[in-house]
Amino acid sequence: MPALVLLGAQWGDEGKGKATDLLGGSVDYVVRYQGGNNAGHTVVVGDQKYALHLLPSGILSPGCTPVIGNGVVVDPSVLLSELSGLNERGVDTSKLLLSGNAHIITPYNVTVDKVTERFLGKRKIGTTGRGIGPTYADKINRVGIRVQDLYDESILTQKVEAALDVKNQILTKLYNRRAIAVDQVVEELLGYADKLAPYVADTVLVLNQALEEDKVVLFEGGQGTLLDIDHGTYPFVTSSNPTAGGACTGAGVGPTKISRVIGILKAYTTRVGAGPFPTELFDEDGEALRRIGGERGVTTGRDRRCGWFDAVIARYATRVNGLTDFFLTKLDVLTGWEQIPVCVAYEIDGKRVEELPYSQTDFHHAKPVYEMLPGWSEDISKAKSFSDLPKNAQSYVKALEEMSGAPISAIGVGPGRDETIEVNSFL
Ligand code: GDP
Ligand code: IMO
Ligand code: MG
Repeated sequence: MPALVLLGAQWGDEGKGKATDLLGGSVDYVVRYQGGNNAGHTVVVGDQKYALHLLPSGILSPGCTPVIGNGVVVDPSVLLSELSGLNERGVDTSKLLLSGNAHIITPYNVTVDKVTERFLGKRKIGTTGRGIGPTYADKINRVGIRVQDLYDESILTQKVEAALDVKNQILTKLYNRRAIAVDQVVEELLGYADKLAPYVADTVLVLNQALEEDKVVLFEGGQGTLLDIDHGTYPFVTSSNPTAGGACTGAGVGPTKISRVIGILKAYTTRVGAGPFPTELFDEDGEALRRIGGERGVTTGRDRRCGWFDAVIARYATRVNGLTDFFLTKLDVLTGWEQIPVCVAYEIDGKRVEELPYSQTDFHHAKPVYEMLPGWSEDISKAKSFSDLPKNAQSYVKALEEMSGAPISAIGVGPGRDETIEVNSFL
């Protein structure tokens, strides 16, 4: 059982942090493979709550080596403050490995993210403003700065010069902003070099050697399938590949090594930022899901948009990720509804459509076709096995499983590590 991928099956915030932490004690490595500190993964251990942005959730499991892979974009100041925040709370972070090939989110990438969004006005994406898109753009444009560049001042200076050449023209002439000085950026970045040095490693080699030794490696996705740059609701997406294939490119591990792909799926749907969302609710049900589910962004503090479960999306996530299992989270939040609507298909221009339309225009026009499932009123937060759940909650899970196309192997009934029903073992 060498490598598993754990990823978001919707628009992010499905409970990946909790699910990763649950497996953390049984795996040797937990690897972030894409995204950056746009992610906010919550882990609750006993009475302690942690919000992780860049660090893999495995950092909280003492036997586990956390790895930031080459596909991640790293803001050094955020990484260092996350590390010191955990150290202050008694968490040992010394095992962390950081890929020398990971790209760095520079201060100018953050500036460009913010000014671009402002310039877009009504058409903005609603990014987290953390510089994610511009950093990946620099990577693809081959003007990015990598972690390894911090250790060669001359190369670093040349690269920052090259990156700022064009950006300063745009900032001053188009956005009416002040130019950014090369020396200042170089000085700031060099200031991180010694502090990051103990963690920098050839993570591709380390992970492949670990797999050869039959160690268990868990890849922890950020964001979610519908935020994927290729497979999500483009352009309302993030700039990386949270889908399963991203784990291979973002960590340098071949697809033949991956034996299991677990989709984290909320028992309803949420989304942060702009973009289409067919089952979004604008009524008191939406408000109730937000309140009961505590649906507020971990990174930006924005209220999450809330809606009913969408089986079309879940089926799509099964397909594009080759999911072998689902981990259904937040079932407890649905306690108390007499009937729970579930979107089983869309109506688009008068036609019933069972699968996610590839056309952006069609998806914008998609209206949910609901099936009503009977609800339950019993408290389920103490349930330890599937049979502890009320009959209607069992039927809800079974119905979702059938519609979504992969077995539901675990069910979350609360935020805590132990508030989980394990149906099939992941390891
Ligand atoms: P992530 O980004 O996918 O890791 O998810 P977030 O941490 O952004 O959001 C998920 C929220 O739901 C967090 O506050 C978790 O503590 C919480 N959570 C996770 N699983 C469950 C669950 O099964 N029940 C309840 N009530 N809360 C959960
Ligand atoms: P986790 O890992 C939910 C959303 C933003 C915006 C879009 C692009 O906690 O699930 P970006 O800053 O990435 O360029 O923003 O993606 N977004 C997330 N939404 N959860 C996340 O991470 C997200 N990371 C980015 O709100 O709509
Ligand atoms: Mg989150």
